[in-house]
Amino acid sequence: MAQLKMLVIGGTGSVGRLVVSEAVAKGHAVRALIRSAARASRLPPVETVVGDVTKPETLVAALEGIDAVVLTVNADGQGRQAAEAVYYRGVRDLIAAIGGRPVRIALMTTIGVTERRGSYNRTNEGHDWKRRAERLLRRSGLDYTIVRPGWFDYNDADQHRLLFLQGDRRHAGTPADGVIARKQIAQVLVDSLTSEAANRKTFELVAETGAGQTDLDPLFAALRADPKDALDAALDLDNMPLNGEPDRVRHDLETVTNSRAAEATN
Ligand SMILES: NC(=O)c1ccc[n+]([C@@H]2O[C@H](COP(=O)([O-])OP(=O)(O)OC[C@H]3O[C@@H](n4cnc5c(N)ncnc54)[C@H](OP(=O)(O)O)[C@@H]3O)[C@@H](O)[C@H]2O)c1
Repeated sequence: MAQLKMLVIGGTGSVGRLVVSEAVAKGHAVRALIRSAARASRLPPVETVVGDVTKPETLVAALEGIDAVVLTVNADGQGRQAAEAVYYRGVRDLIAAIGGRPVRIALMTTIGVTERRGSYNRTNEGHDWKRRAERLLRRSGLDYTIVRPGWFDYNDADQHRLLFLQGDRRHAGTPADGVIARKQIAQVLVDSLTSEAANRKTFELVAETGAGQTDLDPLFAALRADPKDALDAALDLDNMPLNGEPDRVRHDLETVTNSRAAEATN
């Protein structure tokens, strides 16, 4: 298995800390982007760089020598502007800072991300901004995997078996949509980065009763890839028409698409 130089953004968080440990355990070299040097004490001993996805000028240095990025940031409970700044512009500016270099991305969003009318999305547009970030990544030309986890750590004691779903049709907005252990999310995010079968795939991640899998390649391979040049994932609801999107979002999609075209001709 290839050993990567991996940047973890969100590494001090509840999922990110486990991503850092998982990546180290799998032999990758990890650099964690942290918002303040004091936060390093929350991490296993790995290289750190101070930065913030809402400060694009911090991302270029953070990406120096990096092959892969895992993003597990959180802006819940901070309102619409933070949701846009962290979930959406953070990804937009990360893509720009990568500048077409071969850096692979593992992005964590959420189960139910295509559900627009529930209370979570009405409060902060968190689903919409995460979905817009997914769309930019699909258009970026970068290699990626988008993981949409179910409800964290609601697993029953015997629910270790990973189940990948597509179409994002579970919209209860409760753990009835599916459960998943944070440690399992970390395993899937890290393993996706070295799996060719996981490339350009988007899926909901839940656990069901049974033994956990160690080789995730067959699970990745069974998924449909995101259609070429599509905005949304394979089988997603068509409920976010481009002509209803904010001008700034359409502008960003054009910019990322044009940058990809320009890189292809260079
Ligand atoms: N709970 C669930 O059941 C569930 C299910 C599906 C999806 N989700 C989603 O999962 C996410 C929460 O994950 P989590 O529990 O791991 O979050 P968390 O524990 O709050 O960690 C979030 C991480 O993001 C970092 N961060 C926040 N803003 C940042 C910025 N501007 N620049 C760089 N780093 C930043 C935080 O850094 P600091 O340490 O500096 O704060 C922290 O490392 C949310 O988006 C939520 O909607 C949750």
